[in-house]
Amino acid sequence: MYDPLKNIDLNKKDPIILGIETSCDETAAAVICGRKILSDEIASSASIQALYGGVVPEIASRAHTDYVADVVERAVKNAGISYQDIDAVAVTYGAGLLGALLVGVSFAKAFAYALNKPLIAVNHIRGHLAAAYLDSPDLKPPFVTLLASGGHTAILYTKTESEFEILGATLDDAAGEAFDKVARVLGLKYPGGPNIERCALNGQANIPMPKMLKGGGGYNFSYSGLKTAVINYCHTKEQKNEEYSKADVAASFQSAAVDVLVEKVIAAAKEKRSKCVTVGGGVAANGYLRQSLQAACDKYGLRLVLPEKRYCTDNAAMIASEGLVQFRLGNFADMSLNAKASIPLAATLETVQSKAAKEKKEV
Ligand code: KG4
Ligand code: ZN
Repeated sequence: MYDPLKNIDLNKKDPIILGIETSCDETAAAVICGRKILSDEIASSASIQALYGGVVPEIASRAHTDYVADVVERAVKNAGISYQDIDAVAVTYGAGLLGALLVGVSFAKAFAYALNKPLIAVNHIRGHLAAAYLDSPDLKPPFVTLLASGGHTAILYTKTESEFEILGATLDDAAGEAFDKVARVLGLKYPGGPNIERCALNGQANIPMPKMLKGGGGYNFSYSGLKTAVINYCHTKEQKNEEYSKADVAASFQSAAVDVLVEKVIAAAKEKRSKCVTVGGGVAANGYLRQSLQAACDKYGLRLVLPEKRYCTDNAAMIASEGLVQFRLGNFADMSLNAKASIPLAATLETVQSKAAKEKKEV
């Protein structure tokens, strides 16, 4: 009988959590022990997706099906543990591509059931936020967080490991989405963000870009005007048969897209009198953003927790890290867990205590 919560110790010192992530084109599995990463495996279908100019959901789902068992097996083996040592299985249940998520969720359910281990449903975005705890195991809220991924751009006040206040968010496109769309206009291959960064290295940020709520709009962002400005610039040049430098466009766009993120997260830290800034999401892998943020935090005497690049983009260690937060809260899923394609940011940040946790408290 599946009864994994019978003898569970929510206060166990360093629980061993297996994380599984399949929300987009990375099939990932990782094992953590407390906040220490024991193993971290990724198989990606990105090179196949690049042939089609973006992620084809069907190809992603098939690749996850092909890779998931092997990736999990490797993660457990490389962690130097046995299956029975695992205290809980954490899996991304949303948001993401539905078919892709379903592969991870189905696998995690079967795996947890077979081993009689607790199952934890992890929201992908909270995983990105929890990556900071693996980078700096001594990290404790409160702090201000910049979230910049392909689907979200926001500034949060992280009050506890499970409570967040949204100080501002994008009013239209996310930062990563803008990187990807501008990359297409410039004829750069998928994935757009890293290719814009590479292209920008050979250019100068000398093309005027719209101000995009810089110094205004509170902590909100707007990226659609910036994207349109780049499209208009390129199309006008092409119509007039005038030469232009793609590298200069990439550099100008990158600096406009990133400077506003840095400006606003620093302003938020000052307003909240926070001594620490953390960052999460794929755009945080951007070298120009990393350097600018470090320089700004140094200038204002703020501690910057900036996870290594591989823990900013999709990975399973961050899913295990958020799994640990939920483990401590006693938030476990059951076998009715289903995948969810979209979850609004506000709902993402809500914490709902599970029945198991409430029952434990009442005892
Ligand atoms: O967090 P992530 O891996 O997946 C989501 O949860 O969305 O973020 C993916 C986004 C993509 O839009 C990608 O272009 C962007 O992060 N990205 C970058 C870089 N690496 C990934 N953007 C700018 N510079 C990068 N080096
Ligand atoms: Zn992500």
